[in-house]
Amino acid sequence: MEKQSTLFTGIFGAFIISCGVMVLLPSSQIGALQPQVTWDEGQNSPSDVYPVKLENALGRRPGQSVYAENGCFYCHTQQVRDPQYGADMERGWGVRRTVARDYIFQSVPLLGSTRLGPDLANFGSGTWRNEHHDDRRAPAKRDAAWIYKHLYSPKSNFPDSNCPPYPYLFERKDVGGQPSPDAVAVEGNHQVVPTADARNLAKYLLSLNSSHELKESPTVIKPKEAKK
Ligand code: HEC
Repeated sequence: MEKQSTLFTGIFGAFIISCGVMVLLPSSQIGALQPQVTWDEGQNSPSDVYPVKLENALGRRPGQSVYAENGCFYCHTQQVRDPQYGADMERGWGVRRTVARDYIFQSVPLLGSTRLGPDLANFGSGTWRNEHHDDRRAPAKRDAAWIYKHLYSPKSNFPDSNCPPYPYLFERKDVGGQPSPDAVAVEGNHQVVPTADARNLAKYLLSLNSSHELKESPTVIKPKEAKK
């Protein structure tokens, strides 16, 4: 009889604990969040609800799928940690910590599992960087052309880069008249140009930006300082 009551207490206890951790705790953390509303200058009415739209709906295979299919998330996270848990912001990966609302438009949030490469949550924000303040290797800008070079041959941008190359996201084509401005290599009459997948992936990377302030996650580093 005593054994039975222990068993019952165990089962009941496990149920109560999991209910607390998986239902009540998340609900108390994010259940009371109010919609994020941006007012226009005249303070008349909310102008939009959320300023960020991910570059998701392009082409047959949107950039986010190309990112997922190629396993970028194995080495890259998309979550900036609070300063007390890590140096993400010091490294230039974001101006505030990431919160649940940042994934609101993503049916499959790609938070990532391990972090061998830099965090990409704010890659397209314009203030993202991956080098120290005095690093001479800092590129003038990381635009689509820069991303193509990185995807085709990461070592051409940074000789010690460990990011794997993705040459199959590119195709060889005849040069015709002028080589394309996006060509990553020109060999005689042939040029190596990005495929539609590479273009969508670049658009997706450039759309990654969660630097706008949110009520539950105020800006910690001012964007101007982040850019330095
Ligand atoms: C095996 C791990 C690994 C995988 C998989 C991987 N990366 Fe990387 N990536 C790295 C490492 C390490 C770095 C840091 C070295 C560097 O800056 O190039 C990096 C750097 C980068 C950078 C920043 C370069 C800079 O400094 O500006 C971008 C952007 C990037 N990777 C995109 C991608 C994309 C897109 C994919 C998928 C198509 C991908 N990575 C897959 C490891 C990986």
